[in-house]
Amino acid sequence: TKASMIIDKDFKVGEVDPRLYGSFIEHLGRAVYGGIYEPGHPQADEQGFRGDVLELVKGLNVPIVRYPGGNFVSGYNWEDGIGPVDQRKRRLDLAWRTIEPNLIGLNEFMDWCRKANTDAMMAVNLGTRGPDEARDIIEYSNITGGTYWSDLRISHGYRAPHNIKTWCLGNEMDGPWQTGSKTAVEYGRIACETAKVMKWVDPSIELVACGSSHLGMPTFPDWEATVLEHTYDHVDYISLHQYYGNRDQDSANFLAQSLGMDRFIHTVIATADFVQAKKRGKKKINLSFDEWNVWYHSNAADRIIEPWSIAPPQLEDIYNHEDALLVGCMLISMLKRADRVKMACLAQLVNVIAPIMTANGGAAWKQTIYYPYLHASVFGRGTVLVPLIKSPKYDAKDYTDVPYLEAVAVHNEDASELTIFAVNRHLAEALPLEMDLRSFGSFHIVEHIVLEHEDLKASNTLEAPDRVKPHSAGSATISMNGQIEAVLGKASWNVIRLK
Ligand code: AHR
Repeated sequence: TKASMIIDKDFKVGEVDPRLYGSFIEHLGRAVYGGIYEPGHPQADEQGFRGDVLELVKGLNVPIVRYPGGNFVSGYNWEDGIGPVDQRKRRLDLAWRTIEPNLIGLNEFMDWCRKANTDAMMAVNLGTRGPDEARDIIEYSNITGGTYWSDLRISHGYRAPHNIKTWCLGNEMDGPWQTGSKTAVEYGRIACETAKVMKWVDPSIELVACGSSHLGMPTFPDWEATVLEHTYDHVDYISLHQYYGNRDQDSANFLAQSLGMDRFIHTVIATADFVQAKKRGKKKINLSFDEWNVWYHSNAADRIIEPWSIAPPQLEDIYNHEDALLVGCMLISMLKRADRVKMACLAQLVNVIAPIMTANGGAAWKQTIYYPYLHASVFGRGTVLVPLIKSPKYDAKDYTDVPYLEAVAVHNEDASELTIFAVNRHLAEALPLEMDLRSFGSFHIVEHIVLEHEDLKASNTLEAPDRVKPHSAGSATISMNGQIEAVLGKASWNVIRLK
């Protein structure tokens, strides 16, 4: 059996918003303390930011980083993180049952963003707080000067406003685990009033309303409909969060889960468009998939962590090869709807369910999932073209008609480059693939990158950081008439680059 695919310049889905390749740093575990920030580390700079971590982040070309949470934000007082560090309060963080030392706050994080060459996606607390604090933080961050909060920022050593353009109205407010969780009506109302005052302070910002915490929430998708009915006029995006795991050790089913993500995206678009129709609105609400990843390896270890310590190792999933394949499939799912999924955040960036790991005082290394994220972020910019795919299929426990081939193409017109991202989900067999490139007939193959490994469970560690890494010896060839032939190795992630 083999697969085939037609790619044409005219099969346009939409432009990739660079913010599709965002990530996330929460005050959680060793993401901040011991992750991006570790004063005294041999590679730390004058502010305590780890240079080795910054280099790995810059390599990913991350356009935007969500901060400071996550569940953490729903009990956070942003004022605790500003002003002289030696006067900052240590607080209980109820979300993760730790002590927050507040050594890093808004200004330090913005310094880190500048060093990492990225923007911030800032979240406000709508769990224990509301419009009042939200209008204050935006005045502090974005107003040039001449008011209480903006002058306070200047007195803290930050003359220029931070000009943070993207803001999340709370986090996972539908979840009973959330500090100050709410019903859809309660949340819809407070999100609406908060959005109004924030945009009155700075009309140039964009706002994200909380969607469901995951596809399986009992209130999905009524939650989205109700929240958007309350907030439609004042927000720009609705959020989606989804994590997957392979708890049953059923890899064929595990790799099929991006089909669930496809349906999730489809349903949220349908719901947003339903509200638009009901409102007789002109504006489309787009999607911010601002938490997505594989997350399950660390669940058992997290249950036995003693509460109330600072920066314990929480949510430290060690990713294996099959996780990288699903991350690749999830990236393809979002690219296929790049017309509506405008922002996304791989959750998270360092140590906490992350592509980058660090040892305290020691080295930093790349997890398996670093690679599909890197390739998509670096090569997946431009116009998404949806390929016409014929693929053999299989049935898994929770999904039927799962294509072995998952693929999408991105055309970068400025650089005159075409990149095909493709996963072969078959666990035992290589997949011969024929591609008809039609309007790209004159292109040649620059590189066929492959991420593959004999052992689906192989992972990278401090001792063996390069056990799973890509090579460029893929088999793709192109003939004079624009036919590409390639054999996609079993259980492989492929990036075929043409110019
Ligand atoms: O990313 C880890 C956690 O997952 C976030 O804090 C929360 O929003 C989600 O449940």
